[in-house]
Formats: sequence, C-alpha cells, structure tokens
Amino acid sequence: MTTANPARMRKPTLALVGATGAVGTVMRQILSTRADVWGEIRLVASARSAGRLLDVRGEQVVVQALSPEVFDGVDVAMFDVPDDISAQWAPIAAAKGVVVVDNSGSFRMDPDVPLVVPEVNPDAVRNRPKGIIANPNCTTLTMMDALGACTAGGSSPSSSSRPTRLPPAPASPGSTVSTTSSRSSAATASSARRPATSGGRSSTSSVPSRRSPHRWR
Ligand SMILES: NC(=O)c1ccc[n+]([C@@H]2O[C@H](COP(=O)([O-])OP(=O)(O)OC[C@H]3O[C@@H](n4cnc5c(N)ncnc54)[C@H](OP(=O)(O)O)[C@@H]3O)[C@@H](O)[C@H]2O)c1
Repeated sequence: MTTANPARMRKPTLALVGATGAVGTVMRQILSTRADVWGEIRLVASARSAGRLLDVRGEQVVVQALSPEVFDGVDVAMFDVPDDISAQWAPIAAAKGVVVVDNSGSFRMDPDVPLVVPEVNPDAVRNRPKGIIANPNCTTLTMMDALGACTAGGSSPSSSSRPTRLPPAPASPGSTVSTTSSRSSAATASSARRPATSGGRSSTSSVPSRRSPHRWR
C-alpha cells in the first residue's frame, strides 16, 4: 500500500488512467524506472478494477474507479483508455486544471489539441487550449523521429543538427540517399514524400500534414 513519502510531497501528482490495461501496464513499468519524477502516482481504471492492488515503483497501489474526484490534486493525467472513455473524461480532468496526455485517438485531429512527439515538436505542449495533449498512434510514432529529421527546422532542441530539406529522391529503386542525419534512410525519405492517404485512426500522412505549415517545416 502507498504511504506518504515526504521526499515526494513537492513533486507533481500523476494519475494513470487505464492503469490495468495493456498500455497502462507498460506505463507502470516505465514509471518504475523513473522513480524521482513524480510525487504521488494515482492508478485509475474502471469500477470493475477498483480496489485491486497494482505495482508501480515497487509499491502496491490501490486502483481507484474513474470519477471526477479522482483528479482532485492531480497535476498530470495520462489517459490509456478506449477512445470513448477519453473523449468523455479527458475534458472533465482538464476542467479541473489537470494537464491531460491522451494516448487514444480521440483528440488527434482536434485543432485545439497539440499533436506532440517529444523528439520532434516538444514545444507544442505549451499551446494546449483545451488542456489536452495528444500523440500519434503507435505505428505512426515509430516513423516520427526519422521523418522529423527529414523535415527538420521544427521545434526540437536538436533540430539544428538535422537537415532543413528533404534529401534528394533516390535515382532508382535500391539506390541510397545521402543525408546529414545518420538516422535518415532512403526508406524514410520515400515515406516522407509519399502522397497522403486516408484511412485508419491516424494515418502516417495525417500527422505531418495537419501540423506542417507552421510547426514542423
Ligand atoms: N499512442 C500509442 O502509442 C498507443 C499504443 C497502443 C494503444 N494506444 C491506445 O491506448 C488506449 C488503451 O489501449 P490498451 O491496449 O491498453 O487497452 P486495454 O488493454 O483494453 O485497457 C483499457 C484500459 O481502459 C480502462 N477502461 C475501460 N473502460 C473504462 C471505463 N468505462 N472507465 C474507466 N476505465 C476504463 C480499463 O480498465 P479495466 O481493466 O478496469 O476495464 C483498462 O485499464 C487505447 O485508446 C489505444 O488505442 C495508444
């Protein structure tokens, strides 16, 4: 069970919403490797899981049912729940002054919700009219760092070391691309230039195209 730890009293309080799920379980593991960042970590899930004990940072913490009150005193909430639950509850948490980081697909296309990849546009978190921050889905995220390097000039602190334009297209299939970024490749350059396609919750093309005019390029 969690007990008050004076060393954590002044650190921000985190609510992990969806703590029992697949993503929430990985989140708890990651949080356990960053023991000094947060003060209290509140674990939240559905009423079905209320009262369960789950491990985070080597401590057993009681799972709380999602309710407005569960956000009292919370600074940041990570939402790892189905889309409809995020759509309903993220605004409730944000209305209480909580900074919501939503991992679902509910807010990715909302122009008032920054779509943030920390390695690409970290400064975008500062402009969050709804108090909510979104991120691309997991398959898209695997490409974002490489594509961010190809389309640099954005807000990443390391962007000065990245190329400011896309490298030239390969002359023929199988040829390689010369670039100043060691992480770029012919494959990623090709992907970055691929025409936009639709479909899925968050297509690869939708991420840069929605933000690119003033944030990425
Ligand atoms: N951005 C990314 O990289 C990424 C990657 C993978 C997934 N996702 C997204 O993350 C979200 C979670 O995915 P997952 O695979 O972890 O799902 P999951 O394993 O089904 O877990 C769902 C979680 O939501 C909770 N939940 C369900 N209904 C609820 C309700 N009515 N009230 C409160 N909590 C409720 C569940 O609690 P109980 O156990 O109590 O039911 C559980 O903790 C999805 O939106 C998914 O699309 C994002």
